[in-house]
Amino acid sequence: MSADGFATVALVGGTGPLGRGLAARWAAAGVRVWLGSRDPVRAEESVAKLRSSLPADAAPITPAGNQQAVDLAQLVVLAIPYEALEAQLSGLTGLGAGRVVVSTAVPMEFRGGVPVAIHPEAGSAAQMVRSLCPEASVVAALHTVAASQLLHLDRRLDEDVLLCGDDPSAAEQVAELVARIQGLRPVAAGALANAAACEGITPLLLTLNRLHRATTGIRITGI
Ligand SMILES: NC(=O)c1ccc[n+]([C@@H]2O[C@H](COP(=O)([O-])OP(=O)(O)OC[C@H]3O[C@@H](n4cnc5c(N)ncnc54)[C@H](OP(=O)(O)O)[C@@H]3O)[C@@H](O)[C@H]2O)c1
Repeated sequence: MSADGFATVALVGGTGPLGRGLAARWAAAGVRVWLGSRDPVRAEESVAKLRSSLPADAAPITPAGNQQAVDLAQLVVLAIPYEALEAQLSGLTGLGAGRVVVSTAVPMEFRGGVPVAIHPEAGSAAQMVRSLCPEASVVAALHTVAASQLLHLDRRLDEDVLLCGDDPSAAEQVAELVARIQGLRPVAAGALANAAACEGITPLLLTLNRLHRATTGIRITGI
């Protein structure tokens, strides 16, 4: 737990755009982050690049191997591609009972340059994560937030983040963490079985981005 009582975060695959963007936003909001990679040197390079953009009072971002990040932080965010989940998760230990694991993966591919959802046998990427770490509390979140927006701290965010999970306390922890990022509103979206619907929004947003030359996100009305 960090000094202010918030969970500390491990970003598995933290060197990618989503991982770096989340690391920057959380550190700027005072959340301590371990930025993980398969190669600790790559993690160090990513952290060195991020440091120059962070405010002076930001919490530390510490480079680490993925396993070390998982061992040191309380809450684990998987920021790796869908295709990498199975191999990466079978190589990690410590994702057992009591761990909160956040699945951000969007199962999709580009066909002829067009983003298309693909449909995992487990029902969704998040349910696949749960089948790979059955004791952990898996929460699906952050699929619709563009890394490009997160990475530029001067860009104002103004969007919702749908969260699905079967453990209400884990979903609440992730909601609190999401809410630490100014401009993101967490919205509880029920059981992990709903994750497929959340993951499926992203290919549509990417199509909208292209059609409207924009960077889109989502907003749920009426709440
Ligand atoms: N980019 C976005 O705007 C965005 C938005 C919402 C959700 N997402 C989801 O967030 C996840 C990360 O997105 P991203 O764009 O940051 O992905 P990415 O750049 O393709 O990958 C992120 C990191 O994952 C690691 N990685 C890549 N291939 C791997 C493999 N085969 N095995 C293990 N690790 C591997 C790499 O880190 P190391 O080489 O350092 O280990 C890489 O830097 C994806 O599942 C994506 O669907 C992305």
